[in-house]
Amino acid sequence: MSQKQLIETAYAMVADDKGLLAMDESMPTCHKRFAKLGIPQTEEYRRAYRELIVTTPGLNESISGAILFDETIRQKTEDGTPFVQVLQEVGIIPGIKVDKSTKPLANHPGEKITEGLDGLRERLEEYVQLGARFAKWRAVITIGDGIPNQGCLDANAHLLARYAALCQEAGLVPIVEPEVLMDGAHSLQRCYDVTEQTLRMVFAQLAAQRVLLEGMILKPNMVVPGLECPKQNSVDDVADATVTCFRRTVPAAVPGVAFLSGGQSSELASERLNAMNVKYKSRVPWAMAYSFARAIQQPGMSIWAGDPANVEAAQKSIAHRAKCNRDARRGEYSA
Ligand code: 13P
Repeated sequence: MSQKQLIETAYAMVADDKGLLAMDESMPTCHKRFAKLGIPQTEEYRRAYRELIVTTPGLNESISGAILFDETIRQKTEDGTPFVQVLQEVGIIPGIKVDKSTKPLANHPGEKITEGLDGLRERLEEYVQLGARFAKWRAVITIGDGIPNQGCLDANAHLLARYAALCQEAGLVPIVEPEVLMDGAHSLQRCYDVTEQTLRMVFAQLAAQRVLLEGMILKPNMVVPGLECPKQNSVDDVADATVTCFRRTVPAAVPGVAFLSGGQSSELASERLNAMNVKYKSRVPWAMAYSFARAIQQPGMSIWAGDPANVEAAQKSIAHRAKCNRDARRGEYSA
């Protein structure tokens, strides 16, 4: 796979003011969300829900690529069409989550490390055969008393870079996702400091592992106050802090910054993305896009609630939230 193809894929992932749809929830995460809505936690319900998403009419108007889970990339619609083919036929690029989720990091109480590097080269080969053109690996950084520690940041950044290098070797564009969690009572400034430190480590490691910056996408958190912080800053404050942080740390060669939603409401995630693009689009070198799971899917999943009679209404909601975020990239979102 040539560098040129990697670069073309990376740019296509953030082209035309579109963004990515994350639908790569691991089984435990998917089951947790199903359980809250009383949806049976079985393979058939997971398949039916993912079929609902990939067959959403008009999804391709706002979504450039979809991140699938290992189970999902192998699944088919009820009439036997592979999900990958359904996506390809409407011009949505299929991608795959390749990390194996997080575990506690030894000697670092409260901190996490992402697993999945062993055997990754071979797994990537299979995903390429299955039609994936990009991949995702999520590292999790927790803010708390005395954390994150340097050891946690080092280890997670190193793994992200090793993963990214293997992806590019296999011809897959790596989505590099260091997520600083929103959980906690910390301030916007503390999230800023931790995110800045994290990104500096990540880009140092990406350079050390010779990752082609033009052939990757960064998927970060926005810089936001903790969910339990008494001071919830304005949308403009979040846009200012987020763009300041990324301008100071993300090289201009990276084609796109595709934010995760991280537990923000659908509306707030769109409003904040909109504010960033209104104020700063012409002053940043990379696309400011989206790679949301909850902020696009959650209202639709609640409407569906496992009932086939609700499929159409749920699809309308998913298409609507996706379009809201395309509008936000254009600075044209209104709630
Ligand atoms: P959220 O948008 O729900 O945070 O999910 C994005 C994602 O893919 C997390 O890895």
